[in-house]
Amino acid sequence: MKAIKRSLVAFFLLLVITARADEGMWLPLFLQQLNEKQMKSMGMKISASDIYNINKGSLKDAIVSLGGFCTGEVISEQGLILTNHHCGFDAIQNHSTLERNYIRDGFWARNKGEEIPNPGLFVTFIVRIEEVTKSALAGVTQGMTEQERQSAIDKNIAALRSGVKREAYQDYFVRSFFEGNQYFLFVTETYKDVRLVGAPPSAIGNFGKDTDNWMWPRHTGDFSMFRIYAGTDNKPAEFSENNVPYKPKKALSISLDGMKEGDFTMVFGFPGRTTQYLHSAAVEQIVKVNDPAKIAIRDKALGVIDGFMRRDEQIKIQYAAKYASISNSWKKWQGEVLGLTSTNAVAKKKAYAAEFQKRVNANPAFKEQYGTLLGDLEAAYQELNKYGLARDYYTETISRIEAFALGSRINSLAGIKQKNGDKAFKDAVPKTIETLGELYKEYSPAVDKKLFEVLMQKFTNDQPEEFLAPELLTLVKSYQSDFAKMADDFYTNVDLLNNGPKVLANLKANPDLVLMANDLNKANQLFLQLNSHYASTVTKKLSGIQARVNQLQRTYMKAQMEVMKEKKFYPDANSTLRVTYGNVKGYQPRDAVKFDFYTYLDGVMDKYKPGDYEFDVPEKLRTLYKNKDFGQYGKNGKMPVCFIAMNHTTGGNSGSPALDANGNLVGLNFDRAWEGTMSDINYDPSICRNIMVDIRYVLFIVDKYAGAGHLVQEMKLVRAGKK
Ligand code: ARG
Ligand code: ASP
Repeated sequence: MKAIKRSLVAFFLLLVITARADEGMWLPLFLQQLNEKQMKSMGMKISASDIYNINKGSLKDAIVSLGGFCTGEVISEQGLILTNHHCGFDAIQNHSTLERNYIRDGFWARNKGEEIPNPGLFVTFIVRIEEVTKSALAGVTQGMTEQERQSAIDKNIAALRSGVKREAYQDYFVRSFFEGNQYFLFVTETYKDVRLVGAPPSAIGNFGKDTDNWMWPRHTGDFSMFRIYAGTDNKPAEFSENNVPYKPKKALSISLDGMKEGDFTMVFGFPGRTTQYLHSAAVEQIVKVNDPAKIAIRDKALGVIDGFMRRDEQIKIQYAAKYASISNSWKKWQGEVLGLTSTNAVAKKKAYAAEFQKRVNANPAFKEQYGTLLGDLEAAYQELNKYGLARDYYTETISRIEAFALGSRINSLAGIKQKNGDKAFKDAVPKTIETLGELYKEYSPAVDKKLFEVLMQKFTNDQPEEFLAPELLTLVKSYQSDFAKMADDFYTNVDLLNNGPKVLANLKANPDLVLMANDLNKANQLFLQLNSHYASTVTKKLSGIQARVNQLQRTYMKAQMEVMKEKKFYPDANSTLRVTYGNVKGYQPRDAVKFDFYTYLDGVMDKYKPGDYEFDVPEKLRTLYKNKDFGQYGKNGKMPVCFIAMNHTTGGNSGSPALDANGNLVGLNFDRAWEGTMSDINYDPSICRNIMVDIRYVLFIVDKYAGAGHLVQEMKLVRAGKK
């Protein structure tokens, strides 16, 4: 009996400790060493050096960081790149007008002359990755404060500059990995002439909008296409009419075979941020304190904005992007809490920590170094608790009320005048006019006033007195807690909050007048008071505790790698190039519910609601469906749309290619399934799934729907695994 029990405990621990086959965002340069064997056992047919090779073109040469926030991939010998619709959305929106509404109708350049430049948009290739831990940490000692340590590292990194082998047109950066235990250098090539080639209408590219966001089953054709242009020497160049389509070192081949359950896939891209190695106390805080608070504040904000959007067409357009972005994290956090709870993440972290502690205690050298580590971490997190909550309240409230942002733009202008004199002030005015103009485009005083009322009330009612500025308390008292009345008084007759055009005109004609008016702007006065109270009661404390947490987490990371020897560790995401791999697979989100791994155009038609903001289907797509006119892209009379797999992805992986066992492009990553969004904190193979749009649906839309078959002509299509 005892023996059975012991082996059961050991089995459970093994589950907790070993990195599972599908978990991890791996550095491409270590694939051969760490992953190749497992990848092959899971079905991969190519080798690690086909993925990452610095001596010849490899798959990595087809992958770009798009604008630093998404991923894209090269899909033709003429520099054509594929990314998500939501990644290209800003560009699509910028070129849209009421007459040429590319968001609503889509856009397709009929030839290269029609491709549209996007100033500010860039793509970055990774030329080479090198470990530079030794140089980065030279002279760094145990006794240093976090600040001293960081400045020593910064100096070391700066000193690397002259030694980095690179061409004049290449650049590089150094990033910290494993919480500051390792450093890697990335040599990069950045192209700045990136032109919009095409995008489907948002009824396809963002089909299902917020309702379907983070959801499986999914039916979104979330893609758009751009083209990289280079100088005539194929090197990076500023925008010029004379630039030519970039000739890549590697363009992805595209497979029309589709995926079966169990097939190998990998996703290659630039995941943004994850925190996989937290102490259980930190995870517990996220589940119980931070996520619920942020969700509740956004509940209120979204309720206000939604109320106005439903009643007012103009506001609906103005606030659409804002609403989508507030709702995106709001919905993700809810999935995160659900998933962390349903998979017992805290208990698993505790079991893991207990095993760690047991091993540390059993080894005198470990005990000496790490004996008190977990206790210290726990204590630091306890201390952090209330300040972290105050930070969330502050940022979630302040950043939602745009009166504060408007006032703060004018404060910056006043600051320039005070510090740098009249000339600098006058010079800064046009930039202020521009940014205020942008803010006003998506601003409604009625919405903002209501947000002020509702959010300031919540801010005041929910928080302990120590985090409330005395001036705020005085105000609340004098208004007898009537926040609606307070909001009314604050917004009425304040041009900055009610009359954008007048303020912009005044800024041009007599900017001093605008500065003077802002001194009387009560919302701005309150903002400055809130800000300074926050700085003195929260920021200072928080940065002290955070520095301690960082130092302890760094030690904990190092200790885990030494003590938990059998575990394969991968570094948390930090917007650098990573490979993740897994098999195509459905999942069971809750009792009695089982999800399949593929969706089809039939599902789009099931969701179709004529005239609906989220679920309308363009007429041409309905006709193609009715006639089963799927060209070479359909399969058995059906048109595949999306599929899911066990790839470990996160924000920033949007637009990443999904590759098959032969390294051919089969899909485009764009989301995760809601129940598994806790993969950022604790990946669990039972419910964590990434969502990809099938490449055949992308090509079907390009070719059959948009009539842009000339683009498909540029690509290399393969079938039945042939290279
Ligand atoms: N949830 C995805 C991500 O985090 C897609 C967001 C864009 N789509 C939307 N309907 N808001 O980026
Ligand atoms: N939708 C995310 C992105 O834009 C991807 C994810 O979080 O899974 O990067």
